[in-house]
Amino acid sequence: MLTINRCLELLHDRGDSEYGGEPVTQLEHALQCAMLAEGEHASPTLIAAALLHDVGHLLHGLPDDAPDQGIDDAHEELGCRFLRQLFGDAVVEPVRLHVPAKRYLSAKYPEYRAQLSGPSVVSLELQGGVMSNEEMDAFERLPHFEDAVRLRHWDDAAKIPELPTPPLEHYAQHLIQAASLAPPHHV
Ligand SMILES: [Fe+2]
Repeated sequence: MLTINRCLELLHDRGDSEYGGEPVTQLEHALQCAMLAEGEHASPTLIAAALLHDVGHLLHGLPDDAPDQGIDDAHEELGCRFLRQLFGDAVVEPVRLHVPAKRYLSAKYPEYRAQLSGPSVVSLELQGGVMSNEEMDAFERLPHFEDAVRLRHWDDAAKIPELPTPPLEHYAQHLIQAASLAPPHHV
């Protein structure tokens, strides 16, 4: 059974891998993302989503540079299914939607797409490219649309080398709160 400790262990034990061609590790990226969420007074569920949004990258055996080889690792779906064991929609839906949110923002704001990092542009194309107008309308109607967009902005910013952050243990409290505010459906 998945536990909060297991989530933290996974980040601790496997988070030293490179974050998809960016100048930070998976753990540094996760901690920066959670710090940005906390700094904007996000709810515990959204802080948990920020910390765990890329956990899917740690669950598959694909190489860090999979996108450069033309492979979409579908980490948002993998992470979402994994986290559903422990959390409800308020956590898992922003995780699942953080990739569509990039496709949405790229369609809505050309200046957003222009500032994406090189690896992010490569993965954008593998993930379906910019959204059509119909896809954007449907995306805006999703219940967790706004949280997914907020998470996406933190995700894009959380790539600063050597940036000091709170330690992983700091976020245990947010994960505990998030699991109690948004328990998994089967409970
Ligand atoms: Fe990310």
